[in-house]
Amino acid sequence: MSETTVIIRVRDNGPYVVEGAVQVLDAEGKPFSIPAGKPAFALCRCGHSRTKPFCDGSHRTAGFQASERAPTS
Ligand code: FES
Repeated sequence: MSETTVIIRVRDNGPYVVEGAVQVLDAEGKPFSIPAGKPAFALCRCGHSRTKPFCDGSHRTAGFQASERAPTS
């Protein structure tokens, strides 16, 4: 079994940026189309995107604010 690394970066006031070989499935298990050849894609977390589950930049005009930090150990 090969080990695959997926990185999800939480952007301040913006989306989750996903890097790595992953699939995004809808509630019925059908895959969303992810542009081939791109190193990353962004998932909406503000709820305002017109292309959910992907970010379309609407978080900017919606004034979405979130800047969580992981706890330090
Ligand atoms: S996070 Fe970008 S549109 Fe929602």
